[in-house]
Amino acid sequence: MKVAFFDTKPYDKPAFELYGGQNGVDFKFYETKLNEDTASLADGCDAVCVFVNDTVNVAVIDKLYDMGVKLVALRSAGYNNVDIEHAYGKIHVVHVPAYSPYSVAEHTMALLLTSVRRIHKAYIRTKDFNFSLNGLTGFDLHGKTVGVIGTGKIGSIFIDICRGFGMNVIAYDKFPRQDTEIRYVELDELFRSSDIISLHCPLTSETRHIIDAEAIAKMKKGIVVINTSRGALIDAEALLSGIKARKIGAACLDVYEEEADIFFQDFSGHIFSDDILARLISMPNVIVTSHQAFLTEEALDNIAKTTVDNILSYFDGDGVCDNELCYRCGNIEECKKGKKQKCF
Ligand code: NAI
Repeated sequence: MKVAFFDTKPYDKPAFELYGGQNGVDFKFYETKLNEDTASLADGCDAVCVFVNDTVNVAVIDKLYDMGVKLVALRSAGYNNVDIEHAYGKIHVVHVPAYSPYSVAEHTMALLLTSVRRIHKAYIRTKDFNFSLNGLTGFDLHGKTVGVIGTGKIGSIFIDICRGFGMNVIAYDKFPRQDTEIRYVELDELFRSSDIISLHCPLTSETRHIIDAEAIAKMKKGIVVINTSRGALIDAEALLSGIKARKIGAACLDVYEEEADIFFQDFSGHIFSDDILARLISMPNVIVTSHQAFLTEEALDNIAKTTVDNILSYFDGDGVCDNELCYRCGNIEECKKGKKQKCF
């Protein structure tokens, strides 16, 4: 079985070579991202393996389909970069629904603590033998209200962590969990009552720019905004304006709206062309990590193992894979997964 593996990074290879080698899956590793110009690299392959910044749009899907590629295996949970509606009937899509929700939830708390206790400033100071405390005053998390948007796997774990810190938790979810004590509120109330807001929902047409100028206007002065989900959940220009107006107290960003051509690459020594990101990074109260929240040994191992299992279960036997997804998933009348069938 041949699989074209796009956007390969050095940390991807060991686990994929291990599990691929053990199971007869021959990964062809390409550093380039998948897009219309590079799709031809998958010629002769049974499947492509893609990550969050590969483009799987109408044109790419049509090219892959014409070349006989049967499967898009996402090595991520999110799939907003795949036009799953267009893929329906042509190419099956599988993803890794959970590989370590702890990795992302823990990174979220790491960003929050770093920000509110000014660890990022202190680290640089003490490296320079500057032991002054001036300007490093933080605040206690205990007793503060955190508003969590999206209470799925990652959001729920982040809530548990916050409770461990003695924080009050409120949450908003379009599909609230029934099996929990979580206090759900309307989005407006969450914006108005929270000291800290953390995003853990997927990027959809409904959630795009869920934090925009209007939402920021409703928030408390000094609000801390954390995004470890998808960049376009926040209108970055509105965020920057909120910071400049001193309405937003701090922002912790692991994702950025325009990250696709920036994150995972080294631009040190180059003239950096994204003015909004450059301005955000220049702010003392903004911390940016480059889509790093997932990056733990446990997560990388689980991603490789599940991706290889997804590929094997699709090509072996009846081709039914629990981790297949399509635009009908979750629709009670149309969804075939409940009947243990392929999506199409
Ligand atoms: P999940 O599917 O378990 O949870 C998502 C939650 O969002 C669900 O409870 C769902 O009901 C809710 N939701 C859906 N539409 C909504 C809406 N319109 N408004 C409010 N809530 C809505 O997903 P999981 O595993 O918790 O992941 C959350 C997000 O984290 C993913 O969508 C992905 O974008 C991001 N992620 C980021 C990573 C990183 O490295 N920074 C790694 C993995 C995931």
